Amino acid sequence: MEQIKKLFEPIRIGTIELPNRIKFPPLALSYAVDDMVTDRLKNFYAERAKGGVGFIGLSFGLTRLEQGPFPGIYDDKFIPGLKEIVEVVHNYGAKIFAQFGAGYYWSFSDGPVELVGPSGTSLSKRPGTPFRLGGPLDQRHAVERALTIDEIKSIMTTYGEAAHRAKEAGLDAVEFIASTGYMVSRFISPLTNKRTDQYGGSFENRMRFLLEIIESCKKSVGEDYPLMCRISGAQLIEGGYTLEDSKLIASMLEKAGICAIDVIGGGWHEASVASLTSSVPPGAKIFFAEEIKQAVNIPVAANGRITDPILAEQIISQGRADLVSLARALIADPDLPIKAKKGRFDDIRPCICCCRCFETVDTGVICSVNARAGREGQYDIKPSAKPKKIAIIGGGPAGMEAASVAALRGHRVTLCEKGSQLGGQLIIAAIPPYKDEISKFRDYLNHQVEKSGVEVRLGEEITPQAIKSIMADAVIVATGASPLIPSIPGAEGKNVITALEVLTGRKEVGEEVVIIGGGMVGCETAEYLAQRGKKVTILEMLERLASDIPKAVRWELLQRLGKAGVRMETKVNIIEITENGVNGKRNGEVEFFKGNNIVIAAGMKPEGELGKYLTGIGAEVYTIGDQLKPQKIAEAMESGIRVASGI
Ligand SMILES: Cc1cc2nc3c(=O)[nH]c(=O)nc-3n(C[C@H](O)[C@H](O)[C@H](O)COP(=O)(O)O)c2cc1C
Ligand code: SF4
Repeated sequence: MEQIKKLFEPIRIGTIELPNRIKFPPLALSYAVDDMVTDRLKNFYAERAKGGVGFIGLSFGLTRLEQGPFPGIYDDKFIPGLKEIVEVVHNYGAKIFAQFGAGYYWSFSDGPVELVGPSGTSLSKRPGTPFRLGGPLDQRHAVERALTIDEIKSIMTTYGEAAHRAKEAGLDAVEFIASTGYMVSRFISPLTNKRTDQYGGSFENRMRFLLEIIESCKKSVGEDYPLMCRISGAQLIEGGYTLEDSKLIASMLEKAGICAIDVIGGGWHEASVASLTSSVPPGAKIFFAEEIKQAVNIPVAANGRITDPILAEQIISQGRADLVSLARALIADPDLPIKAKKGRFDDIRPCICCCRCFETVDTGVICSVNARAGREGQYDIKPSAKPKKIAIIGGGPAGMEAASVAALRGHRVTLCEKGSQLGGQLIIAAIPPYKDEISKFRDYLNHQVEKSGVEVRLGEEITPQAIKSIMADAVIVATGASPLIPSIPGAEGKNVITALEVLTGRKEVGEEVVIIGGGMVGCETAEYLAQRGKKVTILEMLERLASDIPKAVRWELLQRLGKAGVRMETKVNIIEITENGVNGKRNGEVEFFKGNNIVIAAGMKPEGELGKYLTGIGAEVYTIGDQLKPQKIAEAMESGIRVASGI
């Protein structure tokens, strides 16, 4: 068994000592209400501190925003709430720092929330982030404008005041975000800083904004209070700053009194180079931190796609970085540190790199694999006061999660699956390119079902007749979903197959394929087929393809489909399927799309009608997962834990 040791060695950051090398970087979560700390926010961090993380980051809005995703620190009224989080984190032995994220938006005095930057230069003609992050609710007003010198000075003062409040609330350190395209990095980059005054032009001038922020904070909290900085490994946009420049930035920061640096293994939001998605192999971007570590004598944290503790241990033990900064791995499993320390690797709930969490930064972050993330108070798994006999019908993710949670609570659980293995839609979801991390999640669920003492019956289809003989106190129907075949003339033809049949290899397709439906399944199936040399056309009724995929993943998938030569057609209404293609209508014109096979990827519908036969069987009946409503993994998992924790 792999030993995790180095990860649990303490380390000093300025004047503080951290219990281990695991850092949970700050997250925009949208768990605060009116910028105030809530129980939801507190519980989220308490859980991670309890799980053994050494250093926890809390992301702050420094200014009033419009329903922003951060708690506030721009007024003394926030201090009592912050003290509560600090106390709970300290009680578990972890340290906690504030990250000051002067994002893209700022409000001066009572004025509106505005998109501001060094010179009003937008690289994409849009805000530099795909997320709203507290910007105007009406994004038409989000046009970047240049800051005046007076406004720059007022921002410096705000930073200093915020640092003072952080210290007063008991936070152990402050980190400045100077990465990813946020305001500070926009000053540093020659692409977005076109100023001609002391804040623009030369490298020294472009660094001035950040260096003066550091000065302002030092004045308000003293020389000993640890100040840290987060930077991108490089901008990754042509003409922008490079890794060599980032090394220079790091050494200037060290000279300015910064006592630790966190290096994001990627570039800006506007960069079209994949950094954090599943097409990037775990650990592939750590070289940025490794290089930057060579340029400084202060601790450097590596971040980005560090997916498991064994990789994290290697990074530390090989001296590539001093700390590892794990965001999604710890959203997915807050107990990762404790489990790693005990060698319980199979019990770590793995992140599948789906980016659903990014997608929900503006509305309240959720996680696909861990329904308790952000709902720690709601789903506290406690022993049942009245253990029951529970039958769960259907062994997909919802059924598996419900089974292990119910068993953990002391119920006697039988899980019946008509197929030969557990996993349901996860088995298919793991097949398209770059989706194999889903298999690890299925292995994890399997392991949990097994160790929680659930009786698993494979190959057992529960018919309406058989249901009566189960004699359970409660029945949970988790029979999943099956492909929806739209009623189009020709849909019953021999040349028509489903995306599911393609991905499972149950049916072969010819050289030219038309896919009906350009959502996630259609697009992923297109990539799967294109990789096998097929000529693929996707037909989508809506204006946008892949509109059900998180933005962080979507652009990259569409880029890959384009490169693979997949023809992508939108706003096409299907009229009929013929023997050698599809007739569709667009803007009143009929168009023909040629293909030997037509693949249907038009959504799913609940499978079977078992639920209908369960009334009056004398047991409590619940429905979960796709059987309730076909949705994504996150919804399936949530319905599983919700029902199982309530019985
Ligand atoms: C929901 C969410 C919110 C985030 N918000 C912030 C933030 O406020 N500040 C920040 O520096 N990074 C933020 N990040 C980026 C993470 O800190 C981290 O750099 C990124 O997720 C890559 O690390 P990982 O591969 O370990 O997840 C956020 C990430 C997620 C998933
Ligand atoms: S939502 Fe997806 S990417 Fe985010 S932590 Fe959960 S599994 Fe990982």
